[in-house]
Amino acid sequence: MNQEVPKALRGVALLKVRNIHHWTDRTFSFNCERPQSFRFRSGEFAMIGLIVDDKPLLRAYSIASPSWDEELEFYSIKVEDGPLTSRLQHLQEGDEIVMRPKPVGTLVHDALLPGKRLFLFSTGTGIAPFASVIRDPETYEKFDHVILTQTCREAKELDYGKHLVETIANDELLSELVGDKLTHIATTTREETEHMGRMTDWIRDGRLAAAVGGDLDPKTDRVMICGSMAMLQDHKKICEDLGFVEGSNSEPGDFVIEKAFVD
Ligand code: A2P
Repeated sequence: MNQEVPKALRGVALLKVRNIHHWTDRTFSFNCERPQSFRFRSGEFAMIGLIVDDKPLLRAYSIASPSWDEELEFYSIKVEDGPLTSRLQHLQEGDEIVMRPKPVGTLVHDALLPGKRLFLFSTGTGIAPFASVIRDPETYEKFDHVILTQTCREAKELDYGKHLVETIANDELLSELVGDKLTHIATTTREETEHMGRMTDWIRDGRLAAAVGGDLDPKTDRVMICGSMAMLQDHKKICEDLGFVEGSNSEPGDFVIEKAFVD
């Protein structure tokens, strides 16, 4: 019998979906099985998606789970007319997604020089790669203080990040490793909450420095940034004006950026 792999499935792995959680009407997360041979570095992304009309429809998704985890986790936006997310949001437990098992990305330790504080700036689903980075022991071996920030329009959108940080606090092994090294700052811009405003404004007006005990400084600090194009540009400018140098896998530096998934 001819056992040839169908064309649509060449070069991709089929992964069974295990848990789906709808956080808001615009965001959801899901876990799926991890192929045994699939290796990645915390903070990387992979192309994932569905078979549509006998063809893989793939988009770049940050892997939200850490590299040691036996499952893969993804955190996604839902776009009503988005080619992939309009379909992906209807995933049910037991369904299968496809993944091209070639992880890549710049939000990784290899792209940063050693430092004392690690700032992880995100907006919206841009928190996904940092969900991986803050659960990786290597992060706490390399840095004394890790500051994760997430800015969203509304309070409910911060729930995924809050739950994530609670999960770390409730995990025996991770909480011991992390100790008091992780600071989480969650802000909103369009709904009244305890902390309001864009993080770019917090940096400029000193609110961030007050919260973490000192201004951003390229001598001691390293930065990872993930969000919309406009957010990346604004954060990048702030970093460059302060003397931070952008890093890459081939040439590590003081800060790295990556666009969050959009449709
Ligand atoms: P704002 O409500 O002031 O636009 P979006 O859904 O448009 O990607 O925005 C997600 C969050 O990121 C919002 O809280 C938004 O604030 C904030 N944001 C948008 N653009 C920027 C930017 N250039 N710099 C910093 N934060 C931004």
